[in-house]
Amino acid sequence: ISLQPYNTFGIDKKARFFYVVNTLEELRNGLHYAKTHALNVLILGGGSNILLTADWDGLVLFNQLRGIEILQEDENHVWVEAGAGENWHAFVMHCLENNWGGLENLSLIPGTVGASPMQNIGAYGVEIKDSFISLQALNRESLTVEVFDSEACQFGYRESIFKNTHKDKYIILSVQFKLTKQNHPLHTSYGAIQATLETKGIKTPTIQDISNAVIEIRSSKLPDPKVIGNAGSFFKNPTIYSHQFQQLQKSYPDIPSFPTEQGVKIPAAWLIQQCGWKGKVFGPIGVHKDQPLVLVNFGGGEGKAIVQLSKDIQASVFGKFGIMLHPEVNFI
Ligand code: FAD
Ligand code: EPU
Repeated sequence: ISLQPYNTFGIDKKARFFYVVNTLEELRNGLHYAKTHALNVLILGGGSNILLTADWDGLVLFNQLRGIEILQEDENHVWVEAGAGENWHAFVMHCLENNWGGLENLSLIPGTVGASPMQNIGAYGVEIKDSFISLQALNRESLTVEVFDSEACQFGYRESIFKNTHKDKYIILSVQFKLTKQNHPLHTSYGAIQATLETKGIKTPTIQDISNAVIEIRSSKLPDPKVIGNAGSFFKNPTIYSHQFQQLQKSYPDIPSFPTEQGVKIPAAWLIQQCGWKGKVFGPIGVHKDQPLVLVNFGGGEGKAIVQLSKDIQASVFGKFGIMLHPEVNFI
């Protein structure tokens, strides 16, 4: 079948076998089938962080493991478990309806709950690791269920163990979060959030207000994949050493930067724009006109062409600034 409806880039590549998985048993059956038929397995959630570069000559397991459950609660906190196939934004909305705080800054991120720990999704000053307790994952080799706490996941900026040493070894089944029931700590440090709240005259924001502000900001900045194919930020924002930053500042006094524990983070969008890529169109693909960190497929684009474009961008940013950009998107 064509995977075009199953990836937000809208790339038209095919899967040899496609299996919708609703239960753990179906998942085990799917893996068993793949093993006995020597098929490669691709785990697919919302397809919002992948770039298909070729047909998948194997089995795609489309994760639809559902369910949201309260595991435990006290006066101040609730421990909630969500199935990997739950839609992320719908889960965040469910939490807000119950006045559970912690995930509001992560409103409107596409994809599934199960993929959220893969790259420790983040936005507007919050990452899932901040509310994460543990996850259950199926070991693809032994078919046993294992539990990973936050430390075991080795979360970093857009990173986890599941993108590194445990790549393709586990299928995330469910994720547990610890959320607040009252006295919610608010994360409003992002200038855009403050500005939006100010425009609305909101002085004492609720978690719902923050979610609304984030939704408004995101809708104005990021292209809707239903309109233009994309996978959000194509690259991660690079961190460089402060001495390299000070050198660059001499040639580019207006270079934007954010201090981090490891050094200085530079917005990749700025680097790409400085190299003249913003809004560039190459037939069916291109660099988004408002957010150059987002590569786009206007329709009919090929994954391989987008990979080539990303390499050209990497080469030009490296040539001009000596900074290597690393893809955030998973090439399939
Ligand atoms: P998929 O694309 O289906 O899969 C991604 C990878 O994870 C693949 O390698 C897949 O095999 C693997 N995978 C998926 N599910 C499982 C599972 N259950 N077990 C094991 N492996 C699995 N990300 C952010 O962090 N912050 C943002 O602000 C943000 N904004 C975005 C905006 C737009 C418009 C778009 C299109 C994307 C954005 N993203 C953002 C990226 C994306 O939404 C996240 O990475 C999301 O978590 C991907 O979820 P998914 O279910 O679509 O994953
Ligand atoms: N900028 C430009 N030109 C532009 C746009 C932006 O130079 O046309 C510069 C500006 O200096 C701006 C800076 O880039 O201040 C940052 O831009 P923005 O606030 O849009 O955020 P981002 O760094 O591009 C990151 C995440 C997003 C996340 C937002 C909000 C990464 C790789 N991306 O984007 O995550 O939603 O911050 O927190 O960290 C994703 O991962 O897919 C994603 C969309």
